[in-house]
Amino acid sequence: MTNKINYKRRNFLQHSAIGMTAAGLFPKLLFAKNRSLKSEPTASFKADVEIEIISRDAYVPIKSGRKTKVQKYYAKLLKGPKDTIVELEDNYLGPTLNYKQGQKVRIYYKNKLTEVSVIHMHGMHVPQSSDGHPMYAINTGETLVYEFEVLNRAGTNFYHSHSHEMTATQVYKGLAGLITVTDKEEQALDLPRGEYDLPFVLQDRTFDGRNQLQYLHGMHGKMMGFLGDTILVNGKPDAVFSVKTRAYRFRVVNGSNSRIYKLAWNDGTPLTAIGTDGNLLEQPETRPYLMLAPAERIDLWLDFSHRSVGDELVMKSLEYEGAMPSRGGMGMGMGMGMSGGGLGQGDDFSIATFKVMEKVSKSPVLPKKLVKIDRLTERDVDNKNNPIPIAISMKPMRPQLNGRSYAMDRVEDFEEVELGSIKKIKIFHEHGGMKGGMGRGRGMGMMMSMAHPIHLHGQQFQVLSRKMEGRGQEEYKTVREGYINSGWKDTVLVMPGEELVIVKPFQDFKGLFLYHCHNLEHEDLGMMRQFYVS
Ligand code: C2O
Ligand code: CU
Repeated sequence: MTNKINYKRRNFLQHSAIGMTAAGLFPKLLFAKNRSLKSEPTASFKADVEIEIISRDAYVPIKSGRKTKVQKYYAKLLKGPKDTIVELEDNYLGPTLNYKQGQKVRIYYKNKLTEVSVIHMHGMHVPQSSDGHPMYAINTGETLVYEFEVLNRAGTNFYHSHSHEMTATQVYKGLAGLITVTDKEEQALDLPRGEYDLPFVLQDRTFDGRNQLQYLHGMHGKMMGFLGDTILVNGKPDAVFSVKTRAYRFRVVNGSNSRIYKLAWNDGTPLTAIGTDGNLLEQPETRPYLMLAPAERIDLWLDFSHRSVGDELVMKSLEYEGAMPSRGGMGMGMGMGMSGGGLGQGDDFSIATFKVMEKVSKSPVLPKKLVKIDRLTERDVDNKNNPIPIAISMKPMRPQLNGRSYAMDRVEDFEEVELGSIKKIKIFHEHGGMKGGMGRGRGMGMMMSMAHPIHLHGQQFQVLSRKMEGRGQEEYKTVREGYINSGWKDTVLVMPGEELVIVKPFQDFKGLFLYHCHNLEHEDLGMMRQFYVS
């Protein structure tokens, strides 16, 4: 089959319009001898906040009994407000990093693992050199300096390992943590704060009989993505939250490798969101359930003020369909998304129990308006009729974007973006969701299609439209009410047959910014590309 996109192959290194030297761009793989990693602070960068982050092996208690061997981020505050770093006790998750808009942050990242690693600041709008591109992965004993001003608006982000072809295993072993940003606009709102503003990091793991982490094996498993049989909230199984009769803010982060959650209360009470990936919403949005794909965030407003002491509620993930390839596509019995008889993708399960323990009389009231969002439309883009494609395809054992696998030294013409421009981007399945193209290719494509969370590094974007065509309409009904498209996003769930148009600004920073599937197994299989902003 011929590609539907006019790709022009070109070796990035031979492209003369690039204003940087090749050695500066690709120090790690191509110029191992002259790596120009930033290992010293810049004298002119006056940091308000300085943090040292170390990654190393550790043993932490997760299940009762034997401790679990993990990889973990440790952080130490060298300069700045005391609440910049908040530890999650006895946890494999790294400490929460709390920033304020406008702060200048310097991080000394020291890798003490026995393998290379690099930290990506997921959702943060930072320069290439502080974004954690895999080309900056450092060896054991090396230091990488990050320097950036916090440009983000108030919201929930996270940091995690982004090592070339090792993101999935390193995140699985524990290399992730939460980032919050606050700003004046948020401070002016009466939102739950302090002990009423809590992280809710969702991850799934599988343990062996000695409490050690088990990961999947083989190509087929990777194509499906890792799905664990034990659901962890903030690094702990069987999560229970004791709450008072008042409103809470829960910052829900899907930190799982591949699992997609359909969040809902067990008693059918709808869920109210006040924020998505990068920012608060203009106004709260209420849904019967909320879909949350890997790397997506939702700030939930959970109000227990009409509950009574003694009440118990369960946050669940409800059953849904269509996220995994149909049986015919992957071979009999392979479309279930299970890893060793555990919880399949789209199965129904409990996530956490909330016990109402104490009656209080005061609670913040859900604001009608939250923050101002400038709506981006087609009028803001300079490529209205020529959107940048992000075409999802799954060749047997090879999930790709735009018909290509990741290569650190490659950028195609259509992946070059002018600094300061705002682009229309179309995310679609190369087979299945497109009109025409009947025949074998399409049929195979439909069977092979699965859901992919597509993430773009750098600045947050807005969803302009989402449409679903072709087969899979019945399955789609089980997820379609769970989207929030009104806020700033950096990751979007793309179900089989679905097509999204997004608008993304490429402002402030030149350089290489990745876009990839945040099913981490897919990412490591090469379902990743990059934009070059110049
Ligand atoms: Cu959270 Cu490139 O990833
Ligand atoms: Cu994927």
